Amino acid sequence: MIMLKLRIVLSQILIAAVVTMATAGEGMWLPIFLKSLNEAEMQGMGMKLSAEDIYSVNKGSLKDAIGHFGGFCTSEVISSNGLVLTNHHCGYGQIQSHSSIDDNILQNGFWAADHGAEKPNPGLFITFIDRIDDVTKKALKGVKDNMTVKERQSQIDKNIEALKGSYELGQFEDVIIRPFYNGNQYFAFKTVTYNDVRLVGAPAEMIGKFGSDTDNWVFPRHTGDFSLFRIYAGPNNEPAEYSADNKPYQPKYHLPISLDGVDEGDFTMIFGFPGRTNQYLPSPAVEQIVNTLNPAKIKIRETALDIIDKYMRADPAVKIKYASKFASVANYWKKWIGESQGLQSTGALDKKYKYEADFQDKARKKYKSILPEFKQAYSDIEPYAHARDVYNEVALRNIEILSLMRTMRRLTSAYDNNGVEGYNGFKARLLPYLQGWYKNYEATIDQEVMAQLLSTYSVMVGSSYQPVEFGMEWQFSRGMDFAGLAQYLHEGSKLTSLEGTEALLALEPAEAVAALKADRIYEFADRWHQKHTAQVAPYNTHKAHIDSLQRIYMQAQMKTFKNKRFWPDANSTMRVTYGNVNGYKPRDGVKYDYTTYVEGILEKYQPGDYEFDVPADLLKAAKAKDYGQYADKTGSVPVCFIGTNHTTGGNSGSPAIDAYGNLVGLNFDRVWEGTMSDINYDPSICRNIMVDTRYILWVIDKVAGATHLIDEMELVTPKR
Ligand code: ARG
Ligand code: GLU
Repeated sequence: MIMLKLRIVLSQILIAAVVTMATAGEGMWLPIFLKSLNEAEMQGMGMKLSAEDIYSVNKGSLKDAIGHFGGFCTSEVISSNGLVLTNHHCGYGQIQSHSSIDDNILQNGFWAADHGAEKPNPGLFITFIDRIDDVTKKALKGVKDNMTVKERQSQIDKNIEALKGSYELGQFEDVIIRPFYNGNQYFAFKTVTYNDVRLVGAPAEMIGKFGSDTDNWVFPRHTGDFSLFRIYAGPNNEPAEYSADNKPYQPKYHLPISLDGVDEGDFTMIFGFPGRTNQYLPSPAVEQIVNTLNPAKIKIRETALDIIDKYMRADPAVKIKYASKFASVANYWKKWIGESQGLQSTGALDKKYKYEADFQDKARKKYKSILPEFKQAYSDIEPYAHARDVYNEVALRNIEILSLMRTMRRLTSAYDNNGVEGYNGFKARLLPYLQGWYKNYEATIDQEVMAQLLSTYSVMVGSSYQPVEFGMEWQFSRGMDFAGLAQYLHEGSKLTSLEGTEALLALEPAEAVAALKADRIYEFADRWHQKHTAQVAPYNTHKAHIDSLQRIYMQAQMKTFKNKRFWPDANSTMRVTYGNVNGYKPRDGVKYDYTTYVEGILEKYQPGDYEFDVPADLLKAAKAKDYGQYADKTGSVPVCFIGTNHTTGGNSGSPAIDAYGNLVGLNFDRVWEGTMSDINYDPSICRNIMVDTRYILWVIDKVAGATHLIDEMELVTPKR
């Protein structure tokens, strides 16, 4: 009897331990549920704020300072005059677009001396969240278990339409309704968007991108990955399109900046817009990623990157043109390598197998067939998923001219479907886009990439997916290899230069469309696209089946493990994640400290190097140890620090906020061993990397001398 009681107590303790252990650091939480799900834990970890301070609909709260930057990064307001902080790599496209060989602000940095010198960025916007509502009941109204996937979706679409109609929206407001927990719940986000966002400051690239691709996804890190923008609003502080008359935006809330920084163990929280995670996948999905999909994508990108790198190193003009494209292709190339390695080294699959065995054991009978069904479904989808990824990487991403043909196809179909009017409407928007596109295009480089990648594609994907030009018969009869084919396509096309394309589009609509359709590259891309689309058509059916299995599996996990706290996978909506400042042990005998210092930059410094050169003004300030109020107790300025906050792509530019609600860092990356956290968060080695705000301030103040920007910020010392 006593034994039995003891056992019950023990198992209760165990459950409690499992509940908290599984969640320390892990999870990207919805701001509206912080009070019920997280507040107690956050305060237990050291937070001095309440959930209401973080997210409130009744008063200005932290959430009002957090903006979705351009739809792909996060940014935060750091002054009462609409000054906004985000990463250098988030503002990279804008910084690059204002750069030329003669005025190379990418290389030299840029600091607007006053508001008049701040640079407008057409197309750039920042979106804030006004309110979040749980709309699950309304979104799922009338949805029945026995509905087909299609019926279910069309019912939900109808409900969502109706829901959207029930919001009263101003000109710059919108409501975004998204599925959570794989379609088991729905939330609405009422947003307000500002379209006049100007570049205020950016450090030299050798600071903002220090360590470049070698250091990307790696700690110890010394990258000053930040840039500054400013939101402008209309005469009454309302959102507005760009106008020279607009005024700096007066925000509802801005973040104070701490000069005290953090120590190991301190509480931190990251507030932002994480893009996508897949934490609840079944093992066959993870096997497919590790064994099939990641290796193919890695190989393709490596091939393209090798070629572009060669040209960038040889010619500074090419370096400017390709800098942004190269960085974004290289970024995920490297991430997938780290992700695959991390999944293997942490035994992620074994953990999944164990978890699934446990699930199988405990789940109600009606859920026991899901896992076997998944196995079959992932095996069914594999050839299509692989062909699709390979095609997307080759034809829609890395061979640039072919990716442009997707846009050109929209022009011809505008004509085919909506006549001259449709054509002219699309063309008007296309022309300025094309100018930007060709500005960063080198046909010689792309032709070489094309030659290599057509060949790679022909090896990776079965002949039934390939256009006729890939066939031995076609090529041999013309005495060509893939380099010959790439040359043949380039030579026979008008579309490899802006002049050629503009001349073609200057024709009468009917003639222009005919000339486009007859163009060698357009025609090749179109036929390949059609063949591919027909071949991978079954993908959509398999995917819809997998999605509905995943929805049921998610529901089943929540019902089976009642004591586990589940967070919804990231989906580019606003989330809070929190953890502690903490070093880690990547492997036996090695331990990483939690922070780096300016002296570490000097250690890595290699004069003239492509990645590790350092600007003269930084060297001077560092050698003089001109650290001012930005030094910590060691006497030096901390550069980057790490913590257990669970982040992903899209969290770039997110504020790291301390226990008191002050800005202490700027999130920009994850550590190498932890890049698999999108699929399998492991608290022992998953760390996010943040630039210390004291380094940001030191660069602005002591390196760039832009003291007027420092004056605009609210600097605080909460610990003193
Ligand atoms: N890895 C970071 C992120 O995913 C930084 C990427 C930018 N830096 C680079 N070297 N590509 O966005
Ligand atoms: N650099 C990433 C971004 O652009 C954040 C790093 C990550 O993926 O965690 O969002």
